[in-house]
Amino acid sequence: MEPATRIVELRRQLEDANYRYHVLDEPNIPDIEYDRLLRELDELEAAHPELVTPDSPTQRVGNGPSAKFAEVRHAIPMLSLGNAFSDEEVHDFARRIADKLKRPVLKFSAEPKLDGLAISLRYENGVFVQGATRGDGATGEDVTANLRTVKAIPLRLRGIAGFGIRDSGFGETAAPSPLPVPNPQSPIPAVLEVRGEVYMPRADFEKYNEHARLHGGKVLANPRNGAAGSLRQLDPRITAQRPLAFFAYGTGLVEGGELPDSHSATLAQLRAWGFPVSSLSEVVEGADGLLDYYRRIGERRDALPFDIDGVVYKLDDGEGQREMGFVSRAPRWAIAHKFPAQEQATTVEAIEIQIGRTGAATPVARLTPVHVAGVVVTNATLHNADQIERLDVRVGDSVIVRRAGDVIPEVVGVIAERRPEGTVPWRMPANCPVCGSEIVREEDEAVWRCSGELSCPAQRKETIRHFASRRAMDIEGLGDKYVETLVDAGIVRGVADLYRLRRDQLLQLKLVLDAESPEALAGAVKPHLRPEGSGDVLNAILKLDGADDDWRARALAQRIDFAWNPKKIATKWADNLIAAIDDSRDATLERLLFALGIQHVGESTAKALAQWFGDLELIRRLPWPLFKRLPDIGGEVARSLGHFFEQPGNQQAIDDLLTVGKVRIRDIHPPSAKLRPELDLAALLVEAEIPTITPLRAQALTAALPTAERIIDAEPQHFIAAGLPEASAAALQAWLEQLGHPRLLLEGEKYIARILESAPPLEEVATGPLDGKTVVLTGGLASMSRDEAGAKLEALGAKVAGSVSKKTHLVVAGEAAGSKLAKAQELGIEIWDEAQLLDFLARHP
Ligand code: IVH
Repeated sequence: MEPATRIVELRRQLEDANYRYHVLDEPNIPDIEYDRLLRELDELEAAHPELVTPDSPTQRVGNGPSAKFAEVRHAIPMLSLGNAFSDEEVHDFARRIADKLKRPVLKFSAEPKLDGLAISLRYENGVFVQGATRGDGATGEDVTANLRTVKAIPLRLRGIAGFGIRDSGFGETAAPSPLPVPNPQSPIPAVLEVRGEVYMPRADFEKYNEHARLHGGKVLANPRNGAAGSLRQLDPRITAQRPLAFFAYGTGLVEGGELPDSHSATLAQLRAWGFPVSSLSEVVEGADGLLDYYRRIGERRDALPFDIDGVVYKLDDGEGQREMGFVSRAPRWAIAHKFPAQEQATTVEAIEIQIGRTGAATPVARLTPVHVAGVVVTNATLHNADQIERLDVRVGDSVIVRRAGDVIPEVVGVIAERRPEGTVPWRMPANCPVCGSEIVREEDEAVWRCSGELSCPAQRKETIRHFASRRAMDIEGLGDKYVETLVDAGIVRGVADLYRLRRDQLLQLKLVLDAESPEALAGAVKPHLRPEGSGDVLNAILKLDGADDDWRARALAQRIDFAWNPKKIATKWADNLIAAIDDSRDATLERLLFALGIQHVGESTAKALAQWFGDLELIRRLPWPLFKRLPDIGGEVARSLGHFFEQPGNQQAIDDLLTVGKVRIRDIHPPSAKLRPELDLAALLVEAEIPTITPLRAQALTAALPTAERIIDAEPQHFIAAGLPEASAAALQAWLEQLGHPRLLLEGEKYIARILESAPPLEEVATGPLDGKTVVLTGGLASMSRDEAGAKLEALGAKVAGSVSKKTHLVVAGEAAGSKLAKAQELGIEIWDEAQLLDFLARHP
């Protein structure tokens, strides 16, 4: 096919896909297919630059920045609208028109008032040539390059040569709203100005901000600002990355052609030409029709995919519009009927921390109550500590709160001029408001977390659910809803309480959960009650209010004394659960460690900890840098372990498990001999992440100063004498002066000695051909599972790790190995395929 023909064909397909997606809301090809066509077109145009036209879909990507925007004088001014805030004002509006036109029945086009940015698009002979902002109404800014990047804006109208309505076959059939049917033969005017609103869909706005918050980008205050800011970028490549959309709602200059003489028919015609028109537009009659429309749209407001700040009513017929004319800069034939504002000003009374189910700490502003879009708002999220810092929100500040859709109300900005004297910047508290454990944050993360995993009531449900889950303690039969209710009723406060559950409590729980209402519960309980006093029990149950879901927890909390009639109640579930709980008492260290739900400690880390250290009593007291000596444990996991075990609440919960819960670890053993070469004072200094202390320097230092005490007591000149550069000596000194650091060294040294005392001698470990080698398995093996292969390699002395690092000696890559293989190649690590592995295993039975 001739390139020119193919180019035309590709453009037509791409514009069709765009039209289907943005105008009809009926996508016909997947994104990936769209991208493929676009790439093909791009390549063809690159090979034939003379065939590139400004209306080609490839021109949407945007070129380099311009210094500033040129001015554009609007041929016909872009008007604004008068506002109505009450039913009364809407009646007045309709009456004024009826009186002046002397018509009893009026037809209006009613449409949503999108909250974005007004623009005007100029088409010459059906091709987009210029786009401008409203500016002051008379003169705007030329943002053509930016508007080209908005996919919902057609670069070329449907119905002109090359992509007529006839060609595509769906031009006039699929109108999604009750607009008049346009005349498919309507010729496109030589000059056509289309006016409408560029906006940012709500979901895209949320996604954009979420990303910005996590990656430290600029957070947009609301979708409107997002749309306006994006259009005013001097570099269209930035605009191209913003999720902008467009709705047409009117026209400006029209030359060399005609539009229908009613607003609704004009909208239908615009849609047929390829412009997105709101499917919420309708033609209604009289003030009653307008108000009915207002209420219907108002009910849907929160659920709409975009922000609207009201609805717009326009007299539908052109003749009537001309007769009504204008007053100053607004038409007399149209009016905006506003909804309650989605943003309001109020005062921050306090900033508190909320701890989520997984321990995430979110700051929340307590506000002087304020009505926002029909709801009283008293709290608003501040998302995270970074956001507070960025906005500099302080207690006492006047702020703008925003509530849109079903999104949680949020603080979007501070009104700086109204800041009272004496406010102080906010800081994340050091401790969890719920359990008192430390609040910590990992490097480069926006999220702060409570480190009281096992002891924090806010995290209880999640912790218990995880503890009981199959891969953890495997307590079968304890589903999420039981956990919920047991925790809500206060019967289970921590994991150890699971081991105190009694059969009669469980039977009661089941009755309560199976009942639909307090009445039903009373009915179910009745046959099990002793006759004496049964009335009191039933009355107590019936007093529970079924209106909220809490009644179940309250029913359970009452601990009604049943006279169980085992014949009448299914006890099997309770018996099985009690048995499952009892079975879980006999645990492996690996499972118990995983079950504790320590942040970043998954099954493989738990397994490594168990294998290397052998005993919970050691692990729960170990200074955190020593965890890093294991092949798969880095600073993040080690610090997380450290934080977890530093919290008295977590230690208490572990004590409870072992004493009250009578959990018994069945595979306690001395630390692995493989730890011996890993542990000395130099290693401790390195793993403690003392700035500038490299392994070589640590060794030089410990050669001269062989104990933690001597290092702590030394002066910088001793470090220099030991061979440290001056700056490094100073860094070490500074580190030692920080609270807790000397203790970390002393404790670390103590635990190193303790491990070396109890670990078997190295030579006693059966020496295998892979002793001391760290191996990573990746991809699928045909002859055995990865776990089996790992076990065989371990039996030959290897440490099997889950990720590739500089410490890895060998990678076994099976079928479809991916990033780990690539990393191994990059690091120049030895790589085996399955055949090599099998060969090796055969030679070392
Ligand atoms: S008509 C002559 N229709 O509201 C009438 N405007 O306050 C000119 N807007 O600047 C505007 N949705 O940015 C019209 N369906 C709609 C609208 C709409 C949003 C904005 C537009 C305009 C402002 C007027």
